[in-house]
Order: sequence, then C-alpha cells, then structure tokens
Amino acid sequence: MTSYVAAIDQGTTSTRCMIFDHSGRVVAVDQREHEQIFPKAGWVEHNAEEIWENTRAVAAGALAKGDLVAGDIVAVGITNQRETTLVWDRTTGKPVYNAIVWQDTRTDKIVNDLGALGGGQERYREKVGLPLATYFSGPKIKWILDNVDGAREKAEAGDLVFGNMDTWVLWNMTGGVDGGVHVTDPTNASRTMLMDLDTLTWDAGIAEEMTIPLSMLPEIRSSSETYGKVREKGALAGVPIAGILGDQQAATFGQACLSPGEAKNTYGTGNFMLLNTGTEKVMSDNGLLTTVCYKIGSNDTVYALEGSIAVTGSLVQWLRDNLGLIGSAAEVEEHARTVEDNGGAYFVPAFSGLFAPYWRSDARGAIVGLTRYVNKGHIARAVLEATAFQSREVIDAMNADSGVPLKSLKVDGGMVVNELLMQFQADILGVPVIRPVVNETTALGAAYAAGLAVGFWKSEDDIRNNWAQDKQWDPSMDEARREAEYRNWKKAVTKTFDWVE
Ligand code: G3P
Repeated sequence: MTSYVAAIDQGTTSTRCMIFDHSGRVVAVDQREHEQIFPKAGWVEHNAEEIWENTRAVAAGALAKGDLVAGDIVAVGITNQRETTLVWDRTTGKPVYNAIVWQDTRTDKIVNDLGALGGGQERYREKVGLPLATYFSGPKIKWILDNVDGAREKAEAGDLVFGNMDTWVLWNMTGGVDGGVHVTDPTNASRTMLMDLDTLTWDAGIAEEMTIPLSMLPEIRSSSETYGKVREKGALAGVPIAGILGDQQAATFGQACLSPGEAKNTYGTGNFMLLNTGTEKVMSDNGLLTTVCYKIGSNDTVYALEGSIAVTGSLVQWLRDNLGLIGSAAEVEEHARTVEDNGGAYFVPAFSGLFAPYWRSDARGAIVGLTRYVNKGHIARAVLEATAFQSREVIDAMNADSGVPLKSLKVDGGMVVNELLMQFQADILGVPVIRPVVNETTALGAAYAAGLAVGFWKSEDDIRNNWAQDKQWDPSMDEARREAEYRNWKKAVTKTFDWVE
C-alpha cells in the first residue's frame, strides 16, 4: 500500500491541505480563502473560527480529491503564517478577540513605550534576535489583554491561552476543550519576542515587561516529533501530527536549504528570505532578524538570518481589490508587458510601515516619479519591480552580514510564476534566480518535518535528493542601468518616512 504525508498550510490569505508522496510530489490539494478584516487604517484581523472551519474542510477536500482515506496518511505537518496572534478561552474554545495579523500596526505605541524603558528598538535583540517592532506577537498579546474587557483577569486566572495559528490548529485538531494539546515549535516561538534563542524557553523577564502571564504560553517542543493524534471526527482522524514549522522556515526546509550558506526567497503575501547559518546564531548589523530555522527532534537547533518584507504579493491583491485596476492577479504581468520599462514610476508599498532592512513603523506607501506619460502598464511594472527592489535590499543586507555574497537565489511562492518579475529579479540582483520543480515548498517543508518524525523519510539526504530545478533566469541588464534603477528606488524609499507621528 502506498503511503502519503499531509500538510496543513495555514497562510495569510488562505488555508490549504496538500498531500505528498515519498518523492515529494504533490498528490492532492484543497484550498480555501478567508476574510481579511480591516477595521481601521493599519489594523488587519482574521476570524480564527472561520480559519478552523476552513482547515477541516480542506483536509476533507484534499483526501477526497486524492481518492484517499485517513489510513493512507502516515503523518500530518502544520505550517502557518507566523506572528499572527490569537488568545482564546481554554474552557470554552472561543477566541476572546479576532486574530491580530502580523501586518497589523496597532501596537506601535506599546512598542515605543517598551523601547523607552531603555535600549530603544534594540532592547531585546540580544536574547530574542529581533528588533522591537509591531510585527511580532508579544506586543499583540499585550494589546488584547489591555483592550478586551475582562481578558486580563481571565488570563491571570489561567483560563486564557495564547497561540499563533499553528497552536490554534493543533489544539483544535487534538481535541480542543476536550484535551487539546497546547504546543508550539521554536520557529514560531522565535517570532513572539518572548523566547530566548539559546535556551528555547520563554523569557520570564520579557514576559513580565509585556505584562503577559507565562501560564498563557504554549509548551515549546521541537519542529519534528509526534505531538498527538487528530481527535476530531474529521477526515484525518487518528493520524499523528508530527511536524510544526513557521511557513518561511518550512519553505527553507522544503527548498533543502539544509547547510550553512544556503538561502531561499519566498514570494507570498510578503517576501521572506532566509539564510541557513547552521548551529551558529548570527546577529545582524544590517536590519535582518536572527531566528530559529528548525529543530529536528533532539538534534541541535539550526538558526537563520531573515529578511522580512511586509508587502509584495499583497500589493498585487491591493491593485485588484482596492483599486480594481486588474481583474485577476495574473493580469498584472499582461499590463506590465505593454510597456518597455516603469516610465520613471516607483511604488514603495510601505502599507505596514517598512520591515527589513529599515524597521520603520512611521513609513507609509508612496508612488513617486509620476508624469502625464505614466500609464496603467507603467504602474503594473512598478508594482512588480517593488518586489524585486525590496528583495535586492534584503540580499545586500545579507551579503553584508555574512561577508559572503550570494551566488544564486532559490525562489518559491505564488509570484514566481510571473516570468517578467523573475527576469527583473535576476537583472536587479545580478545573479541567477532558480525555481524548483515543486514550488509548494512551504507545505512540503512541513510534510518533511512530520515525515521525518515517523520514519517515512529517513534523513535530510532524502530531502536533498528530492529537490530538482525547474527553471533558471540569468541576469541580462547592464550594470550601469541596474545601479541607476536601484538608486532611484532607494530615493523613492526615503519619501515614505515620517508619515506617522
Ligand atoms: O511572517 C509572516 C509570514 O509568515 C506570512 O507568510 O506566506 O502567509 O504571506 P505568508
């Protein structure tokens, strides 16, 4: 009998279940989008109960599409949008507030107040590897406890628990109020600002400064081990859940970036570049994050340097949903192809402030360089180029931090089907860009973590052997133009600063 591994990929815009065979090829997939809730400028929320419903539905959907039953699946892995913060009542299973999404900037004041205690943005960097920023979970938990009626009292009484979406999905899958497992892994925990990167334990001092009771926090286990079995009477009932990786770390794993010096860039809602630094924890001097890359069972922890960009694919969505300039995401490439270049227009999508390498929550989006010459095609091109320019900034930072310039870039994610973008990315970086055959590396990485835990895959060599190249784009832009374009971009970025007091 052929066996398979399933992965639940709980992302920013949708939830998917993907089923993989032993060679790492996709056998079946089902996907559902969830509502993006924007209550105020800068606020972004998700309905966690809708996400749980979708998780159940896609698990059933993927099995049905693959003509499979739970008995065909040897393990399930979970991967998730990181940092998105949920607090729920462990006695009722009900969230006390919507999930506050990683892109949300409402914790600006909390973050500034914590920095003012001393050390500014660098206050917790040495312990947690992160600058103080609205991106991370800790300040979001504090916001919920400070602003939801009765939440702090209930949290102190031990009734409320916190989780990122991995923990929420796992808790529900393993029984919810009826014995659900309250666990996370070090990749997710490393994005809360609450975990000590050396010991992989919650830091009581930071939690106290953020007024977060330690009793709310999940147990931190490895990224690859059996946490429990699926208890709910859904499609996967009885299957062991054996892997958890934050989505960007999962993509790094799925791309087989398993040795120090190997890196990938994922083009999703945002862009996230991770460089495996091995068992060494490298602190950044250039605006990058130090984060856990993965921890497989009792093996040593592997760390990464990360360049996080908040808005890339979601800028295309914004063009479609907020402006109605295109009917579908794919149309952006068609419009961009109607023109030779950007016509002088640069679009800096600082919708959530700017993440790496700037970490400026006072920034807001801008389109600059406009003249009457600029048309829809130029704007479409500027939208795509914004993704490539932002990635160049992150790679420059990575090269500076590591001292070893990257020779090529492995890419994955939704936007890498866009040929124009991939060519421009190679042009603006000056190094080849390489796409693998299985572009669904996020789900694949979670499947690998789960499959390794149950012996379906024997070692990391199986992962390396499964990786195969699909396409490579080589740089073709001349050096002078590349640098002129990049200079213009840098100038455009400076126009977005100081918009929020
Ligand atoms: O840190 C946020 C990241 O995990 C979100 O990824 O793919 O859902 O945009 P994605």
